[in-house]
Amino acid sequence: MQKVGVVGWRGMVGSVLMDRFKIENDFSKFETFLFSTSLNGEHAPEITNGHRKILDSDSIDELSEMDIIVTCQGGDYTKAIHPKLRKSGWSGVWIDAASALRMEEDAIIVLDPINRGAIEAGLNSGTKDFAGGNCTVSLMLMALGGLFKENLIEWVSSMTYQAASGAGAKSMLELLEQMQFFGDKFLRSKQNNAAIGALDLEKIMNTSMQEDNFPNDRFGGALGLSLLPWIDTKMESGQSKEEWKAQVEANKILQSKNTIPIDGTCVRVGALRCHSQAFTIKLNKSVAIKTVEELIRESNPWVELVENDKQKTLDMLTPACTSGTLKIPVGRVRHMSMGDDFVNAFSVGDQLLWGAAEPLRRTLLMCL
Ligand SMILES: NC(=O)c1ccc[n+]([C@@H]2O[C@H](COP(=O)([O-])OP(=O)(O)OC[C@H]3O[C@@H](n4cnc5c(N)ncnc54)[C@H](OP(=O)(O)O)[C@@H]3O)[C@@H](O)[C@H]2O)c1
Repeated sequence: MQKVGVVGWRGMVGSVLMDRFKIENDFSKFETFLFSTSLNGEHAPEITNGHRKILDSDSIDELSEMDIIVTCQGGDYTKAIHPKLRKSGWSGVWIDAASALRMEEDAIIVLDPINRGAIEAGLNSGTKDFAGGNCTVSLMLMALGGLFKENLIEWVSSMTYQAASGAGAKSMLELLEQMQFFGDKFLRSKQNNAAIGALDLEKIMNTSMQEDNFPNDRFGGALGLSLLPWIDTKMESGQSKEEWKAQVEANKILQSKNTIPIDGTCVRVGALRCHSQAFTIKLNKSVAIKTVEELIRESNPWVELVENDKQKTLDMLTPACTSGTLKIPVGRVRHMSMGDDFVNAFSVGDQLLWGAAEPLRRTLLMCL
């Protein structure tokens, strides 16, 4: 049995990955070794069939023993450890949730079913580095894969609504702390004046965001009761890095001969889990909306086409009803007033599943 080292298994992506391994009985297919930056030496959870002690994720010697390493630890970890491990002569397969290696020439961005063929070809020809795509990029390709496959897309603008957990476990906890902060203010205001009006409450909440003890170390502002239209660092183009990733990563996954322009504004919102995206899709010709719907629906088994109807949208096209599932609901599909070659669509996907853990898991299974 191959030895698989998992680094970052207790973070958001790592926990979801471990859960998928358990649900799909994957732990019986390989020998698991858990690595941690902070828990090495402690007992590993019982769920795996592997080594009972947690190993040191900074130990090149211990990592070198692995046939395959799956890491969900983050980009800084990859940048620090991956070069040292390769330099030491380790020739195992490295599968990574972080962005650090994605644009490297000899690394493949993995998104089976979209580019399963490229992953297989890479494995056969000796590629050793695989990286999961950016979460919104993977979710966009899962949602619109049918239109890309038919070469119908001239360009796409994606406006994102990204959940707090997309920034990691501690960030999601900060959102909940913000909600508690507001909840406490609300309760106290009601206790002081049971008849307090909505506008007075709005003022109290908005002012409270400026208080010194308002918890915003991670987000740098209020995400609860507000939103933050900037994710990651600034690029020379004026895009945020999250926005920049959409075009470069999607075109790399699609192996596009001519770059398909993809751009938009990435916004962090107060959802706990699941990223949503509103798409403006410019087609290269007029296409009947029924055909567009069919292509979207049939592109993979996880897409769930939601009729452009208010109640169905509220019931089926939200982070709340998608969270924790592999569904990719796509709805609000209609022609836009700009012309029949413009299509509007909205999609939601669990960024921890299809946006992160599931492509890594499927790549690992292909390596066994
Ligand atoms: N979150 C997403 O939706 C998402 C989507 C796609 C890609 N990614 C990428 O995947 C990588 C991992 O992201 P992540 O969101 O999973 O990071 P995360 O939740 O912040 O976890 C990363 C590490 O933080 C440590 N940690 C410290 N305190 C923790 C706590 N209270 N709970 C859990 N872990 C804690 C753990 O390492 P030790 O056990 O070693 O202490 C854990 O492995 C990043 O490169 C990210 O960009 C994330």
